[in-house]
Amino acid sequence: MNQFILPVLALGAGLVVVGCSGSPGTSATRDAGGDRNTATAGSGVGGGTGGAAGGAPAATQTCIPPASQDSPAPKLSLSGCVDPNHPTVLAASVIPYEVNSPLWSDGADKTRGMAVPVGAKIHVKDCAAEPTVCSQGPADTGKWVFPVGTVMVKNFLFDGKFVETRLFIHFDSATWVGYSYQWDEGQTDATLVPDDRVQVSFNTGKRLVDWHYPNRVDCMKCHAQSAGSTLGPETVQMNRLVGGTNQLDRFQAAGLFDAPVPKPYPAALVAPYTSQAGSPPVSATLEQRARSYMHANCAICHRPDGDFPNLDLRLDVSLKGTGLCGTVPMKSDLGIQGSLNLDPGKPDNSVMLLRMNTPADSGGGKTVRMPQIATYAIDQEAVKLIRDWITSIGGCPP
Ligand code: HEC
Ligand code: HEC
Repeated sequence: MNQFILPVLALGAGLVVVGCSGSPGTSATRDAGGDRNTATAGSGVGGGTGGAAGGAPAATQTCIPPASQDSPAPKLSLSGCVDPNHPTVLAASVIPYEVNSPLWSDGADKTRGMAVPVGAKIHVKDCAAEPTVCSQGPADTGKWVFPVGTVMVKNFLFDGKFVETRLFIHFDSATWVGYSYQWDEGQTDATLVPDDRVQVSFNTGKRLVDWHYPNRVDCMKCHAQSAGSTLGPETVQMNRLVGGTNQLDRFQAAGLFDAPVPKPYPAALVAPYTSQAGSPPVSATLEQRARSYMHANCAICHRPDGDFPNLDLRLDVSLKGTGLCGTVPMKSDLGIQGSLNLDPGKPDNSVMLLRMNTPADSGGGKTVRMPQIATYAIDQEAVKLIRDWITSIGGCPP
């Protein structure tokens, strides 16, 4: 039940077929259990695999921003982003996609999709050629910039049941707004969550899951302009085989980019988790997995201009450049005298690990946990990964 790979990957017709299935499990491409990636993960493909069926999306774009920020659809079925008769199914014009290294969200499975206005194009940053669009340096090469009118969609599932759908909407050149929808247990529809943190106990039919809906300010703490507003879509995340076709080739063939992404494509982020067969690729090193994890889960805030810019945890930044290795924590030693942000060979003396391994305060109080928002359950597999990685580091680079 854990592996879903779209059998048909052509844009347009294939998605309509999928869209008609009415089954949550096949409503979009999805990652495997715990949002771990499937066997296709991390397949850094140097060139085109061919076979991408081109053509513009066949369906008319129904998933568009509401008239104003204050009038989001009260029900997901009215948003235009899902099939109104089967709201667990993405609208035909919403393009499903997968990322190599997902955000940890308390073990939820996820599916994702994007609705780009007809005729509008996605721009892929090339920091060498256009340094002005990369105020944070070359590590932002490959970030995707979406046209105004884009709507991004992310579903959160447990045991195949939808608990939340998030819409992230590009109203104008300066404005993105996030909205959260709360699913009913009968899976008939999802209702707009008022702009407040909401906590529920969700019955999947198999178990009760604690779930926290973030508020709209929370959305913007992570989806900040400094992080590029959208967080998943970038070339290293999207360079991924889905059903035998590289996703980048699929987007290219569909005419979604304003200019072709140069080949060979940069190496893909690897899947951080091993719990899924074939994922990450056996060749992936601890360091690659750890850095892929941190790029997706930590670099949102830990980057120049971010929430805590003294650390820069983006993938292409050297270990020395991250500011982690051997540095004295500015904020707190967490009660351990002499602790460092990352103490080579000594995970238990490393504040980054101790912070990841701390449960959140569900009351919303100040927490030392990293990230501090939108996650409550410890990502045990990531804690082990970062522990092993720190253990493997012999010393900090000079
Ligand atoms: C802890 C940080 C964090 C918070 C808080 C957060 N997100 Fe995200 N979100 C991410 C990351 C990282 C990704 C990309 C990785 C992924 O898709 O797993 C993402 C992806 C998404 C996507 C897919 C498009 C994209 O940008 O990659 C949507 C839609 C989305 N989030 C909506 C929301 C909304 C709406 C809220 C508030 C209700 C919210 N998010 C709160 C971190 C966060
Ligand atoms: C939503 C934004 C956000 C995300 C995501 C985030 N952090 Fe942080 N981080 C912060 C902020 C803000 C602080 C400062 C905390 C304080 O004021 O006590 C911080 C502090 C830290 C510190 C202490 C630094 C010092 O010098 O004291 C470490 C280490 C750290 N984060 C690691 C991580 C790791 C590892 C991840 C990913 C697993 C992560 N963070 C994800 C915002 C974030």
